[in-house]
Amino acid sequence: MSLRIGDKAPNFTANTTQGQINFHNWLGNQWGVFMSHPADFTPVCTTEIGRVANLKSEFTKRNTKVLVVSVGTKADLTPLESHNEWIKDVNETQNANVDFPLVEDPNKEIADAYGMIHPNANDTLTVRSVFIVGPDKLVKLIISYPASTGRNFSEILRVLDSLQLTANYQVATPADWEDGQDCIVVPAVATEDIPNKFPKGHTIVKEYLRTTPQPNL
Ligand code: BEZ
Repeated sequence: MSLRIGDKAPNFTANTTQGQINFHNWLGNQWGVFMSHPADFTPVCTTEIGRVANLKSEFTKRNTKVLVVSVGTKADLTPLESHNEWIKDVNETQNANVDFPLVEDPNKEIADAYGMIHPNANDTLTVRSVFIVGPDKLVKLIISYPASTGRNFSEILRVLDSLQLTANYQVATPADWEDGQDCIVVPAVATEDIPNKFPKGHTIVKEYLRTTPQPNL
């Protein structure tokens, strides 16, 4: 059975470019973005890892740690040597400083636990999977992209913002929501409780659609 939203994120202990980590302990009370990419020394992946490194302050602002796994490593190097050599290329070509861990997964155990290998796309390499994991270690988001499409990391940050608003303020976010726009009061909040909980105001569009200004601004 593949991993689904709400499931406990599988824990693992693994060697990384920053030493051995236990995933759950490493996350601590923070949010996590755990993502796979097909292979080291490939063009799209190089731009992605550089982009994530250059978004460091955005992830930090959201109390979020990033972890990356790939099973596609260079044949004449150990997995960690491959990751470390490739990081040098990423830093050079993307004007970046990659300082988040890249995990080695020589037996594909982590990739299998997270369902990151989609055999009908490629039976040996991971696709571009993204898992957002909450401080409770539960999976909050799962997205898979094909190898040929680099991810939109603005979208990952947008979802983190939405998830954190929901966790902290009992609001959801509407279609195409962007930071600063009105939010939706979750159905669990009774209409009579809205004025107390959302003192910035609210609009009742329908009894099931109640909006309020973004509460954390
Ligand atoms: C890339 O990162 O460019 C890539 C990796 C595997 C397959 C296709 C593209």
